[in-house]
Amino acid sequence: MGGFTNIDVSDQSGRTILVTGANTGLGFGAAKVLAAQGARVLLGCRSLDKANAAIDAIRVDVSDADLDVIQIDQADLSSVRDAAAQVNEEARLDVLVNNAGIMMPPREMTADGFESQFGVNHLGTFALTSLLLPKLGEQPDARVVVTSSIAHRGAKIFFDDINAQSRYRAQDRYGQSKLANLMFAFELDRRLRRARSSTIAVGCHPGIADTELARHLPLLVRFAVPLFRPFFNSAAEGAWPTLMAATAPGVEGGEYFGPTRRNETAGPAGRARASSVSRDGALAAELWELSIEMTGIDPALPGNDMSGDQN
Ligand SMILES: NC(=O)c1ccc[n+]([C@@H]2O[C@H](COP(=O)([O-])OP(=O)(O)OC[C@H]3O[C@@H](n4cnc5c(N)ncnc54)[C@H](OP(=O)(O)O)[C@@H]3O)[C@@H](O)[C@H]2O)c1
Repeated sequence: MGGFTNIDVSDQSGRTILVTGANTGLGFGAAKVLAAQGARVLLGCRSLDKANAAIDAIRVDVSDADLDVIQIDQADLSSVRDAAAQVNEEARLDVLVNNAGIMMPPREMTADGFESQFGVNHLGTFALTSLLLPKLGEQPDARVVVTSSIAHRGAKIFFDDINAQSRYRAQDRYGQSKLANLMFAFELDRRLRRARSSTIAVGCHPGIADTELARHLPLLVRFAVPLFRPFFNSAAEGAWPTLMAATAPGVEGGEYFGPTRRNETAGPAGRARASSVSRDGALAAELWELSIEMTGIDPALPGNDMSGDQN
């Protein structure tokens, strides 16, 4: 049967990998495995205390782990810029794992005035990635990984009310942010191909994994979680698609990875199904322009010329 798990991660010695949201959940699970395989792992975290606790926890099992903290709050673009500047001081960057995210908080705004799920999950990711593309491009086989969700299916981008000023349904906005994550991964990869870059962009999702992501869900739902735990991935298992996307040999740009069992909710990682909307190039180009407008950050890669070169 097979499928990719942590034991399939190859030797990562000499490589530097930034994992956002690495202090807990999937990010922590991925960071620990990557460190155990010899990577220098940069833990992108908004809380220094939580980041240092995560470093201590990884070193219990991986005593010689090469770890450092990049402080980043994706709800604040000035923090994203500072974090990118710090990463740009590194000798190299081989993989950027965009994992940090929030799910279904009450309506709140980022420091820059964006609805928080779109702001943190998508715009923070868009900005960080854009600012790190030149650094990634220094390596011959760099990768950008973007974490989506099964929730991207059936979701839509609210272009006419992007900051939820007229209506806020938390699950719609979570779905929007995860669809935006996947559209961004695919659009970025298309543009990298057009720019003849050797960097690739891929997507991944963890199925349903037992992490702190449910922290904003109603108490009743959180009390019910233990009943369903046997059906979930653990946080470490949920990181398998992330690890596959970040390290598996032969991965091609525009691929999407997730768990292979129980309708992609659990089990070892393999190729996952992306919705047709997530592959819609025209919609993705619109999202790309909106993201530049909102963040003021332009990755400056060639765009989709719908009438011209099809490659
Ligand atoms: N768990 C699942 O079943 C599931 C399913 C589908 C997709 N996902 C996706 O997987 C990713 C990881 O989620 P998880 O399940 O591991 O959740 P988690 O345990 O809640 O971890 C989320 C991580 O993101 C960080 N984060 C949140 N807001 C941030 C901000 N403004 N700036 C920087 N970092 C921030 C958190 O930091 P703090 O600890 O400081 O808050 C934490 O490190 C997310 O993108 C999520 O959408 C998860």
